Amino acid sequence: MTKRIKILDKEFELSIPSSTIQEAVNKIANQLNNDLKNIKKEIVFIGILNGSFMFASDLFKQIELPCKITFLKLASYQGTSSTGVVKSLIGINENLRDKIVIVIEDIVDTGETLDTIICQLKGFEPADIRIATFLFKPQAYKKQIPLNYVGIEVPNNFIIGYGLDYDGYGRNLPEIYTLVK
Ligand code: IMP
Ligand code: MG
Repeated sequence: MTKRIKILDKEFELSIPSSTIQEAVNKIANQLNNDLKNIKKEIVFIGILNGSFMFASDLFKQIELPCKITFLKLASYQGTSSTGVVKSLIGINENLRDKIVIVIEDIVDTGETLDTIICQLKGFEPADIRIATFLFKPQAYKKQIPLNYVGIEVPNNFIIGYGLDYDGYGRNLPEIYTLVK
């Protein structure tokens, strides 16, 4: 029987074991090492908190190029505009001008978050922005932004583990679990 766990009021079942996760991380690391090896510009990885911390750590250990890493958080606050929640990036104190920026995301779902991040990062005038997302829900994606590096494509279900949370819990799980409906 598939392993099940309970978090708060919900039940989840194992869907991606840690061996598969590690293979996907290795794949992205290899692609990045290969694609970036001849780049002369400075390379800065930017992990998006909170969800990407585990993927960022596993990935960054395998990068064999001189590069930096920093982390950003999206602050949500109620805007005065009719559009409701406005999000802005907090934590950029790195000079990104003319650098190669690699955005590290845990998951791209609708792409709204990524869209906000890219728009705001462009303001810092980097030479290039590339996206490395560990998980991707193609059925939920509403944007056109190309995702340069994708670890695993997943169906449009709610998942937790490996950095992803349900109400703050479940980030510590080394595997990925899917909500049992
Ligand atoms: P998007 O803006 O719809 O692409 O959603 C992106 C953010 O929503 C991610 O960075 C996650 O923090 C969160 N998210 C999306 N799908 C899931 C999920 O299945 N489980 C937990 N968090 C999720
Ligand atoms: Mg996230």
